Amino acid sequence: MPADLKCKIAGVEFANPIMTASGCAGYGEELAQIYPLSNLGALVTKSISLKVRPGHPPPRTVETPGGLLNAIGLANVGIDRFLKEKVPFLEKQKTKVIVNVAGSTIDEYVEVCSRLNDCSCADMIELNISCPNVNEGGIEFGTSPKLTEKTVAAARKVFKRPIIAKLAPNVTSIAEIANAAEQGGADALSIINSVIGTAVDIDSWQPLLTNINGGLTGPAIKPIALAMVSSVYRKCNLPIIGIGGITDYKDVIEYLLYGATAVQVGTALFVDPSAPLKIVKDLKKYLKEKKLKSVTELIGKVRR
Ligand SMILES: Cc1cc2nc3c(=O)[nH]c(=O)nc-3n(C[C@H](O)[C@H](O)[C@H](O)COP(=O)(O)O)c2cc1C
Repeated sequence: MPADLKCKIAGVEFANPIMTASGCAGYGEELAQIYPLSNLGALVTKSISLKVRPGHPPPRTVETPGGLLNAIGLANVGIDRFLKEKVPFLEKQKTKVIVNVAGSTIDEYVEVCSRLNDCSCADMIELNISCPNVNEGGIEFGTSPKLTEKTVAAARKVFKRPIIAKLAPNVTSIAEIANAAEQGGADALSIINSVIGTAVDIDSWQPLLTNINGGLTGPAIKPIALAMVSSVYRKCNLPIIGIGGITDYKDVIEYLLYGATAVQVGTALFVDPSAPLKIVKDLKKYLKEKKLKSVTELIGKVRR
């Protein structure tokens, strides 16, 4: 019998625990040209805001050792075009869809979430209260426990299906923020968004990103993210989706052992868009070798 890869978060069942991370697979259209999205546990969309956002002018990405710095600035089509142009495609996909939502004010989050409530293809929403590279909104909401609770509670009032709060690593105590999100009514947590970073050109002496600061992602941040998942797992009751630096099945197992129920793959998709397929295949093999019946048997099983 092949091992069971199914997992459940807040009553939503996923075919496997491997999801794409927001901003790394757009709205799924390009990935679907490479393989059926039914191979994924879920597709997480690019952050959607109330208005269209062009994002920051280029250069907005820089490679660093073991990582990628980006200051895209939440470029996205906005909720009107998302509903009109992207939802018809997403409705046809045989995978769970998690719509990531961003806002500059709590009212903006509420407006986008309430419009998504009528959109049945949004199985869950993921609240981006942790974007490090926009001037207003984003990370401000996710670095204050009070604002985290208030933002989640406001979204909770208008969106009737499960809500995931996506947390920032750029805080003193991520467990405190996690508990605030739970108080606000979040059903799950995504941990982590990118880590604030920057880089300078040594000839021109100018920052390499027009926005100066960006968000560091990729293998460089995995140990940071793992420690944060571990801390929140011990101090908060909500299910966790682990994110940061996942490139292969071994990374996924580390996240599950530290308490994640599922994971998201981001930067690795730019290197190999098929990474999730390989991860799923290798994960199955690992479970068989370890004689485990279900992937859920790994959750939180690190031996301390
Ligand atoms: C180019 C790029 C764009 C991103 N855009 C978003 C976004 O719109 N919303 C969001 O919540 N996270 C965004 N992220 C963060 C990822 O979803 C993820 O949290 C982060 O990249 C860490 O995972 P990784 O190391 O596997 O890339 C973006 C990351 C990258 C690299």
